[in-house]
Amino acid sequence: MQNLTIAVAKGRLQTEALDLLARAGLSVSSAMLSSRRLAVEDESGRYRLIFVKPGDVPIYVEHGIADCGVVGRDVLLESEADILQPLSLGIGRCRMVVAAPSETPLSGYRALRVATKYPRVTARHFGSRGLSVEIIQLSGSVEVAPQLGLADCIVDLVETGTTLRENGLRIVEVIAESTARLVINRASYQLKAEAVGHLIDSLSEIVDQGEQT
Ligand code: PRP
Repeated sequence: MQNLTIAVAKGRLQTEALDLLARAGLSVSSAMLSSRRLAVEDESGRYRLIFVKPGDVPIYVEHGIADCGVVGRDVLLESEADILQPLSLGIGRCRMVVAAPSETPLSGYRALRVATKYPRVTARHFGSRGLSVEIIQLSGSVEVAPQLGLADCIVDLVETGTTLRENGLRIVEVIAESTARLVINRASYQLKAEAVGHLIDSLSEIVDQGEQT
């Protein structure tokens, strides 16, 4: 079977993604995983894993540097990459929400200032409601922006809700539910059909088992 390169989103998804891939038959030593290497081979030599920022996973996959990727739906909603999304992996469950300080009503603004890592999703969301907003693009720690006066509200991910709560924010609206997806490069899907098909089948089986328990 052909070799596959898989791009894995670093950060919140990484541990769960590696666990899932290990159950699908990829075997990477813990020494390799605990190293700072950003590209490692599995023991069979058939898989190479690359660890990149979540927002870069669709880029590596679209350009064919990685055949496949594991990344959150939140990132894919923001991305314009032309890639296949054959499988929801059931890990990394979270919600993308509009959140605001508890005491602040979200009406009466001429243009709401919204801080986010997701400018396209935010523009689409408020645009579809006919609201004009000023989008302030940040790279992280978005929840701190309202209390510092940078923004009136935020669009960000919520998992447990702790970060919102501890920063005096409440959910105003849920924009989307998100879980991790397996994504595939269009050419790899054709040219490496056997290996890609094998990976999809192995992962689907594990996801199905998880849904039944
Ligand atoms: C994510 C997200 C929220 C937080 C939500 O941040 O952007 O800040 O986790 O989790 P919670 O609801 O369980 O508190 P991440 O840790 O990915 O870092 P970031 O600040 O770079 O976005």
